[in-house]
Amino acid sequence: MKSGVPDEKSPGVPLAPSFRLPCFGRADMLGGMEASDSRPARVLVLYHSQEGHTKMMADLVAEGAGSVPTTEVRLKSVAEATADDLEWCDGVAAGSPTHMGSIAWEMKRWWDVTARPLWPKIEGKLGCAFSSAGGLAGGGELTCLALDLVLMNFGLLVFGAPDYTAPGQTLHYGAVCAGRPRTEGEREACRRLGRRLAEWVQVLVCHRPEFAPQQAAYARFP
Ligand SMILES: Cc1cc2nc3c(=O)[nH]c(=O)nc-3n(C[C@H](O)[C@H](O)[C@H](O)COP(=O)(O)O)c2cc1C
Repeated sequence: MKSGVPDEKSPGVPLAPSFRLPCFGRADMLGGMEASDSRPARVLVLYHSQEGHTKMMADLVAEGAGSVPTTEVRLKSVAEATADDLEWCDGVAAGSPTHMGSIAWEMKRWWDVTARPLWPKIEGKLGCAFSSAGGLAGGGELTCLALDLVLMNFGLLVFGAPDYTAPGQTLHYGAVCAGRPRTEGEREACRRLGRRLAEWVQVLVCHRPEFAPQQAAYARFP
């Protein structure tokens, strides 16, 4: 088997050794800068919350990211976060309440104004989304996709997760709740999103293939 590529003699899922993000990770490309291979993964959980529900989700996303060893997490509202926080991180989880089926203006403004000077300097970081809506089918997933569009505009690599965290509870396009996270499945979907972000940063940026979700010890499809 060539590096990471399955063939007839050794079928299976190609794992991380073949995945490499070259831009801000490789020790040999960074001169005097700190190499991402030898430092913690850096995750920013960036949120806006008017009534507290998205903040509850953000806390759980941060908890999930922080559960991955050798990971530093910054949890900040759009009122607190600066462009430096975005530049610092390897991956960002962006969370907004669903307002009129899309991103709350406060979160959109943060990207339009605060993050704008970094465009397109942050290309290649990882990104994912979460949202609290008023109810099921209120637009939570649309808001995740709208957030993803913003992240993609900056050149971020966005992802969802195929996992289920309980029967009938997934996070394919990001974590979504109706109101606050009420069930353990909903809470775990938020944690899983943060954990997955940290895992992919570990694999793709810090070059630690042992964190690949394909090798996860926890149940991904209960
Ligand atoms: C201006 C405004 C617009 C909203 N639009 C929607 C909507 O389109 N769909 C929906 O399901 N809920 C909508 N809601 C409800 C919020 O998404 C919901 O209460 C959410 O849980 C609030 O999250 P937060 O506590 O983090 O602010 C809206 C609320 C406000 C204030």
